[in-house]
Parts: sequence; structure tokens; C-alpha cells
Amino acid sequence: MTIAHLTLRTDKPIGAISPRLYGSFVEHLGRSVYDGIYEPSHPLADENGFRKDVMELVRELGVSAIRYPGGNFVSGYRWEDSVGPRESRPRRIDLAWHSTETNEVGLHEFAAWLDAVGSELMLAVNLGTRGTLEALQLLEYANLRTGSTLAEQRIANGRTEPFGVRMWCLGNEMDGPWQLGHRSADDYGKLAAQTASAMKQFDPDLELVACGSSSSSMPTFGEWERVVLTHAYDSVDYISCHAYYEDLGDRAAFLASGLDMDHFIRSVTAAADEVKASLGSDKTVDVSFDEWNIWYNTRFENVDKIRGNQNWPQAPRLLEDVYTVTDAVVFGSLLITLLRHADRVTSASLAQLVNVIAPIMTEPGGPAWRQTTFFPFAATSAHARGTAIEVDVRCGTYPDARFGEVPLVDAVAAHDDAAGRYALYAVNRSLEEPTELRIDLSVLDGRLDGARVTAHVLADDDPLAVNTLAQPERVVLRDLEVAREGSALVLTVPPIAWVELLVEP
Ligand code: AHR
Repeated sequence: MTIAHLTLRTDKPIGAISPRLYGSFVEHLGRSVYDGIYEPSHPLADENGFRKDVMELVRELGVSAIRYPGGNFVSGYRWEDSVGPRESRPRRIDLAWHSTETNEVGLHEFAAWLDAVGSELMLAVNLGTRGTLEALQLLEYANLRTGSTLAEQRIANGRTEPFGVRMWCLGNEMDGPWQLGHRSADDYGKLAAQTASAMKQFDPDLELVACGSSSSSMPTFGEWERVVLTHAYDSVDYISCHAYYEDLGDRAAFLASGLDMDHFIRSVTAAADEVKASLGSDKTVDVSFDEWNIWYNTRFENVDKIRGNQNWPQAPRLLEDVYTVTDAVVFGSLLITLLRHADRVTSASLAQLVNVIAPIMTEPGGPAWRQTTFFPFAATSAHARGTAIEVDVRCGTYPDARFGEVPLVDAVAAHDDAAGRYALYAVNRSLEEPTELRIDLSVLDGRLDGARVTAHVLADDDPLAVNTLAQPERVVLRDLEVAREGSALVLTVPPIAWVELLVEP
């Protein structure tokens, strides 16, 4: 057994946790929308064709803003196809995912679904194969109350009140050669700046996200952010980051993924601040980490990709990764990293939500269930509110070729003043050894006596255990015993584990 000493540093508040940190992402991809959130023939479908069991799980997951409709999909999308009478909406091929889009679900239907689950709409515009004009038209259609042809069209299509979309993504992954309409940083920076300024002429209070890098391993990473922001700094509010991690055969390295995310965020905020200084601006551009997750992308690239120019299936099974306990522990550590940067990451989107690299899975005509990754997200979103707080960790390390010495334990905390609750999150990255977490809470000044203390753990004797249609509750969050020793709490955490500790003084 190894020992880790953790100290809650209420004297080191990181920043207010934006509710938008707990956002997600629904793309028209695979069975995310069709046979995912929407399945009119399902016995649990509501009058609009949306599955009520899925809606319940989305509410339980606790997602704030949801990015829509893509992703790579958006770069070939004509938003006009998705509005108006359903029977006259066109069927289109989607080059990004090699599928057929029926447009049965579009802006109005998705917004109604969001109202039902209590989440905010975050829209992406197509700056891949379209441009500023189409972005402005969508903005006018969505947000202008009345009086123009586009606003009247929205009203005629059944929505009297504007959608009131605040957050807009200026394209998607424009640094990626796979992206339809992929551009150089210089070209994209100019287009993003022009589109953003035009959108802000309609409404200066919009919150606009410029595309950052698709991953920290992109050859243009760093320079991309600098060039794009040099053009667009004054007119945008966020720069995006996207990151996906997978176990490429070295589990210890995979468990260290949070270090890459941490480095990514530090580099992007440094690049943004450098542009800020060079422009003499007093505005700060934050990070929208609007795609993050575990994704077995190499498997998709090598095996699952649909091919053939006469083969455009409708809602195929794509990117349906089944997440292990180890995946969920890494996932939990990514949430810890996001919280550690709560001062600058003020929006984030778990990519994605249902069926496609998702915490929620469904079977057509059958049940919906929680993947392993569901649990760290739901718990963190429910309890890590208020202010993020640093936790000092003294623990052992292990060597990693890329990151040098990796701490066996990583942790962060949050204090929700309104709820009177401290929440602490930690991961044990050890492959074999349980770790005793000794958590010094002396800052609570004796308020630990009489406090309600609970802890939950995600771990399993089999680090590859998963939840499936046949065994949907094989992995669940379990209670963990907490011992009190004066002003400290002591938890014995199994190897490869994610834990949540709640203290309500
Ligand atoms: O989330 C899946 C895909 O990952 C998105 O469409 C794209 O933006 C990213 O490459």
C-alpha cells in the first residue's frame, strides 16, 4: 500500500466553476440523434419521437450547454435543410461520416428536446463549405424576434420566441486536413474574424468560439492559436481545444492522459495571453474545451470507417466505444484537470452524449444504460460547483517516456458555498497498489466534527469491466469507507480508481 498526503488549500481558490464546464455535444453522426435521442417507434418515445428514458439519463448526467450539430458534420451542413415541414426536407449525403442525413431532426426539434432536458443550445456554424453570409442568416433565423423574412419563417415554422442562442462556434476543427474546407491558420483567422465581427454587429453580447487545435499533437499546434487569435482576438471570446485519449497498449501512459490535457490548456492560455499582450488588449480570451473524451479513434480509422461511393447508410453504428473502468478513471482525471483550470476553461463539452463515444447507450426498441464514464461525470457535475480549490498532493511517482515522473495521485476540490459542501476528486493511477489517501482538512477549523462525510469510488477487480446491453449494471459507483483521524480523513483507494469525497460541515 502506498500513502498519499493531500491538503485542501482553501487559501488557493482557482476560480469560479462555470456551469458550462459540464456541457456536452450532440452531432448528427451514427446513432447519436437517430436511434439515440430520437426513436419515434420506441415504446418510451414522447409525442415528438424523443425517448423519455434517454431524456431521464441526460438529466441525471447533469449536462449544461450542448454543442450542436457537429463536429465534422457541420462543415458540409446546410442549416436550411433542417427547418420547415418535415416532408419537404431534403435527404443529403454527409461526407464527414459517409452517411445519409434525413433531416428529420433539425434545429426546432433539437431545441425542443433541449428545453425538455433543461440544457442550453450551443450552435456551430459551417465555415468549412459555407461562410459569413450563411452564418448571419442562421443567426437572424434563430435569434431575431420578428420582422424579417427569416424571423417570420421561424415563426411560421412553429417557434414564436427566438431560440436566443448565446454561444456560437465559428466552424469546427479548421486546422484538420480531414475537415471539409480545411484552411491555413491565416485564412481561417481572417474568416473567423470577419464572421465574428459581423455576428457581433447583430448582437455584441454573443459569445463566440474560434477554432483552436484539434489536438495538442497537431503539427500546427501553438502557431495555429497565435495566428488565428492575432486576426480574431478582438471579436471572439473563446478559443477551442479538442482532445481525445485512448489506451494504445501502455496502460500507465494512458492513465497519465490528464498531463497532456493540462499541458494543452497551459499552452493555449499562454498563446492567447501572448496575443493579448501584443495587442495591448484588456480583454481575456478563455478556453472552450468543446470536445474531450476517451475515443478509440485508431480502431475507427482502421476498421469501422464506412467506404464506397454508393454506400451512404442511415444512422449506422459508428464510434460506439464501450468504456472500461480504466477508461472511466482516465475520464475522471480529465474532469479533475478541467476543474484545475476552472479560471480559464469556462466552457467544455463532453464529446459526445448518446451512443457515439458516449456515456449513455441505447438499443433500438430496447433499454438505455449508463456506461462507466457516466458516473464520474454525473457526480462531478452534481457536486463540483461553486469555486474550484487546489489540493496539494505528496505522493509517489512512476516514470513515463513523455511526461517524466507521473504522480500516482491527482486531485482537485470544489467548495459550493450555497450548498455548504466541499467536494474532493482524486484518482489513483497505480496499476497494482491500493493507495491510502490521507486528506488534511485542518482548514475547516474544527468543523469536521459533526460534518456529514461520504465517499464514492469507481474501481473494479477487473480494470477492463464494462457495462453492456446484457449486463448494464456490471459497473456502478460504490460507497467507500472514510476514517476520521483528528482533522484528517483517511480513505483506502483500490488501484486504478476514481474517488469522490463529500464533506458537508
Ligand atoms: O466527436 C467526433 C469527431 O471528433 C468530431 O466530429 C470532430 O470534431 C472530431 O474530430
